[in-house]
Amino acid sequence: MEIKEAFLGKKVLIAGGLGFIGSNLAKKLAALGARVSILDALIPEHGGSMFHAADLPSPADLTVADARDEAKLIPLLEGRDYLFHLAGQTSHLDSMRDPWTDLEMNCRTSLAILEAVRKVRGGTKVVFASTRQLYGIPRSLPVRESHPVVPVDINGVHKMAAEWYHGIYHKVYGIPAAIVRLTNTYGPRMRIKDARQTFLGDWIRRLLKNEEILVFGEGSQLRDFTYVDDASDALLLAACREEATGQIFNLGGERAISLRDLADLLVELNGRGSYRIVPFPDELKAIDIGDFYADYSLIRSRLGWVPSVDLREGLRKTLEYFRAHGEHYL
Ligand SMILES: NC(=O)c1ccc[n+]([C@@H]2O[C@H](COP(=O)([O-])OP(=O)(O)OC[C@H]3O[C@@H](n4cnc5c(N)ncnc54)[C@H](O)[C@@H]3O)[C@@H](O)[C@H]2O)c1
Repeated sequence: MEIKEAFLGKKVLIAGGLGFIGSNLAKKLAALGARVSILDALIPEHGGSMFHAADLPSPADLTVADARDEAKLIPLLEGRDYLFHLAGQTSHLDSMRDPWTDLEMNCRTSLAILEAVRKVRGGTKVVFASTRQLYGIPRSLPVRESHPVVPVDINGVHKMAAEWYHGIYHKVYGIPAAIVRLTNTYGPRMRIKDARQTFLGDWIRRLLKNEEILVFGEGSQLRDFTYVDDASDALLLAACREEATGQIFNLGGERAISLRDLADLLVELNGRGSYRIVPFPDELKAIDIGDFYADYSLIRSRLGWVPSVDLREGLRKTLEYFRAHGEHYL
């Protein structure tokens, strides 16, 4: 079934829907004719913002509450066709500095969501946004879904546990669930205040403020990037396609790029700016995964997903967005 028809009139809940990816997804779903509701706790260290609520047709579609609060979550799940679970903590460094909060935000939130879905028994399909971080240091590139899972930080361990919770609730309770392992996702509405979401957010803020970009390491490290519209399409496909249920899919980018080339590209697109290559801070070096790029051939062959926005175009759109709306993010 085409994405276009699949969501017309469908009742959708997005946990974490005021955040970067969730709010982009909400906008897309509303345009597809879905009846979208959002649950978000607006956690200050995360990427959520009330500025992202502007597209919602009615204030009643937004519940500012924590997904760990069952009394708030259960009524929102009644009669839902789809639940997109985007409520989690992204920062690897924060997970090392404060593992308990990461445990709460990634594990307990996921369990609370799955327990609520189990209790409601409404057949809601759950799509969970996981991360490539759980692979750890790649043993071979590009990284396929069959690559061993050996996380190098607490965030990766907790996301791995969250994936396993989904697997167990699928197998034992028959909850239809699909998992998408995102790589670095970027685009309008990302958090640029700091590097909590990705280092790229930090680079974009520095460019906008005419500050030098700091490239850690030697600049030769490879990464892949997915534009947020492409990531949203993958989540939608994972939701509406029956064959995605019970599966795990990598996302990726149209190419891998070194950090130095990425910095050059950003400076070129911005029309000004500069960068400096500096040694990795110790805290980051200890949890660094080296080169990474994903093999996304599984989602391409099974669901027909391919990244459609190339890095140059995606970065251009991202910079344009933040030039227009930067005051809401800085
Ligand atoms: N951005 C990326 O590059 C990336 C990469 C891999 C995985 N992911 C995962 O995708 C998900 C969404 O990422 P994002 O970049 O949009 O992050 P984000 O921080 O912008 O959005 C997450 C939203 O979830 C909300 N939230 C968190 N815990 C909650 C809870 N218990 N109850 C209610 N709301 C809660 C936050 O307030 C925030 O608005 C996260 O789980 C993240 O780990 C993101």
